[in-house]
Amino acid sequence: MTTSLEAPPGAPERGAIGAVRLDAASLTYPPRGRRGLAVEAVADVTFSAAPGEVVALVGPSGCGKSTLLELVCGLRLPTGGAVAADPAVLMPQRDLLLPWLDALGNAALALRLHGDGRDSARAAAAPLFERFGLAGFETARPAELSGGMRQRVAFLRTLLSGKPVLCLDEPFAALDAITRDEMRRWLADTLAQEPRTVLLVTHDVEEAAVLADRIVVLTPRPARVAAVIEAALPRPREATQADVVALRRRVTDALRG
Ligand SMILES: Nc1ncnc2c1ncn2[C@@H]1O[C@H](COP(=O)(O)OP(=O)(O)O)[C@@H](O)[C@H]1O
Ligand SMILES: [Mg+2]
Repeated sequence: MTTSLEAPPGAPERGAIGAVRLDAASLTYPPRGRRGLAVEAVADVTFSAAPGEVVALVGPSGCGKSTLLELVCGLRLPTGGAVAADPAVLMPQRDLLLPWLDALGNAALALRLHGDGRDSARAAAAPLFERFGLAGFETARPAELSGGMRQRVAFLRTLLSGKPVLCLDEPFAALDAITRDEMRRWLADTLAQEPRTVLLVTHDVEEAAVLADRIVVLTPRPARVAAVIEAALPRPREATQADVVALRRRVTDALRG
């Protein structure tokens, strides 16, 4: 087993960084119970992500953002329209590390799901701990890690899945402001080294402006596309840069409708 982030056997070719396309995609949850009401979560959503692009999905909480990612990952089927995506992996809103496994065991899970044995999966994941700022914490349990470290372990596991499309659901929402800022920089650096197609769900307009190539602004539920804003700014970006601030303002205006 190699020690880079090369795709495991059966996963798409390295370099095959995938694309995503939604065409008037809709999803209505069926009623729960006899007296329940159907919940329209996503309505007529059209947007695309080209290989290697970071597309941010910004919208108020409860509008249908997580549902959109589940559609892209094939965890749900649209009830209308079409969703076409290369193999996509979901990094859920909560880090979902297994508390009884150590950090290395949690990161290596992605490889074990591809059929690697325990020891070879751990051996393949271990060299990446240095690069992810986790060296020395291989045998720490999730409860012994800081929030930022837990997110890095979860992100490492997501990358090791070898899928070309990463769906990140509010990856930094639970972190304090300083850690969040560090993690944004770290994500931007990591993607510069390991390009992937990323759908980044966030309700943080600044995060979208700092990280995205394109920002899809969603309405309150059901999520419809209120605006698609191109963010063609050079990288690296600082949140306080004038062009980033101007971009934030455009997104905020679109959110207000
Ligand atoms: N499994 C489900 N069954 C019924 N309704 C759901 C289900 N999952 C989410 N919803 C509803 O769909 C709407 C959108 O949810 P979600 O996609 O989680 O929004 P967001 O991620 O933007 O906060 C919410 O009103 C939520 O209550
Ligand atoms: Mg959500």
